Amino acid sequence: MESVGRLAGGVAHDFNNMIMAIMGYTELCQQAIEPDHPVHKWLHEIGKSAQRSVLLTRQLLAFARKQLISPKVLNLNTTISDMLHLLQRLIGEDIDVVWRPGENLWPVKVDPSQIDQVLTNLAANARDAIQGVGTITMETGNATLDPAFCAEHPGAVPGNYVMLSFSDTGCGMDPETRAHLFEPFFTTKGVGKGTGLGLATVYGIVKQNDGFIRVNSEPGQGTRFGVYWPALPDQNIRPEVKELPAKAIGGSETVLLVEDDESVRAVARSFLTSLGYTLLVAGSPEEALRLAAGHSGKIHLLLTDVIMPGMNGRDLSRRLLEVRPSLKCLFISGFTADVLAQRGILDDKLSFLPKPFSRAEFSRKVREVLDA
Ligand SMILES: Nc1ncnc2c1ncn2[C@@H]1O[C@H](COP(=O)(O)OP(=O)(O)OP(=O)(O)O)[C@@H](O)[C@H]1O
Ligand SMILES: [Mg+2]
Repeated sequence: MESVGRLAGGVAHDFNNMIMAIMGYTELCQQAIEPDHPVHKWLHEIGKSAQRSVLLTRQLLAFARKQLISPKVLNLNTTISDMLHLLQRLIGEDIDVVWRPGENLWPVKVDPSQIDQVLTNLAANARDAIQGVGTITMETGNATLDPAFCAEHPGAVPGNYVMLSFSDTGCGMDPETRAHLFEPFFTTKGVGKGTGLGLATVYGIVKQNDGFIRVNSEPGQGTRFGVYWPALPDQNIRPEVKELPAKAIGGSETVLLVEDDESVRAVARSFLTSLGYTLLVAGSPEEALRLAAGHSGKIHLLLTDVIMPGMNGRDLSRRLLEVRPSLKCLFISGFTADVLAQRGILDDKLSFLPKPFSRAEFSRKVREVLDA
C-alpha cells in the first residue's frame, strides 16, 4: 500500500504541473479572443476536461496522503447538509436519502473538501450497490471509543470522535470483497466502470485525519460504513467568511517568480504580466539569488515553487529574507513537501497556493499576501 501510494503521489505531482499548463494556456486563450468567437466553446471543453483531471489527481493524492489540505474547525452536520443536493443528484431519483443529523455534535477539524470526497465516494458505491429502488441513510453522532472497543477493532485509538454512519440497502459484500475493499484498484465492477480508487481514497483521507473506518456488510443485507473523525469538544466554530467573487485583481508591485517547470513558469509569468506586475523570472533558486543580488530596486513578493533541484523554496526564501527582510513570500506546489509540512498539513504561518490554480484564484492569493 505504501509503495503504490508513493507511486501515485509522484505521478499526481507531475500531473498537476501539466494540468496547470493546460488550464493556464486555456484561460489565456479565452482572454485573447473576442467573447463571441466560436472557439470559446472548444476552449471551454478543454477547461472542463482539465477540471476533471484535477479531480482524478486529487483522488490519487488523497490516497497517497499527499493531498494538500487546509483543515477547518467545523460541524459535520453543516458540511453534510450543504452537500445533500449534490449527493441526491449523484444518486438519482429512485433511491431515497434519509438524513439524520445528530444533536449537539462536537466540532471536528477537517478540510471540508475531504468530507465531500468521502461522501461522494460512499454515495457512488451505495448507488451502484442498490441498482433500482432502495434507501441510503446518513447519520451523525458523538462517539467515545474506549480501550475495550479499540482492543477489538484494530486501527481504532481510544478518544472522542464524531461518527458518520453511511448505510445502504444494496447488494452487500461477501467476505472476499470485504477483505480487499480498501485496496487501491480493487474493484468488482466491469472494465471501464470502476477504477477501484474510491474507497482507497476514503481510507487515505480518514487516516490522514487520524480517524478510523469500519464496515459491516453481508451479501443481500446491505452495507454500513462507520467513519470516525477525531472530535474537538472544546473548540468553537468560526463563522464562514464569504468567498470573494471570482474576479482577477491586479497590482503594480515587483514579483520574483521562481519555478523550475518551464510550462508552469510560462503560465505564471503570463498571468502576472497581464495583471500588471513587474517581473523578475528565474528557473532555479540559484538564478533567483543572482537576479535578486543584481536588482537594486525593491522586490515586494517572492513567488516560488517548493521542490526544486539544488535548494527548496523555503530555504531560498530564508536566504532572500536575510538581505531583504520586508520581502513577502508565497509558495506554490503540486503537493505537500515534507520540508514544508509534516503529514500533509500546512504550516499555518506560510502562504501557500496549491497547483493547479486559475488566474482569478492566483491573482487574489497574490494580492492577499502582498496586502497582509
Ligand atoms: N456500498 C457497497 N455495497 C457493496 N459493495 C461495495 C460497496 N462499496 C464498495 N463495494 C465494493 O468494493 C469495491 C471497491 O470500491 P471502490 O469504491 O474502492 O471502487 P469502485 O467503486 O469499484 O471504483 P471507483 O470508486 O474507483 O469508481 C467495489 O467494486 C465493490 O465491490
Ligand atoms: Mg467507488
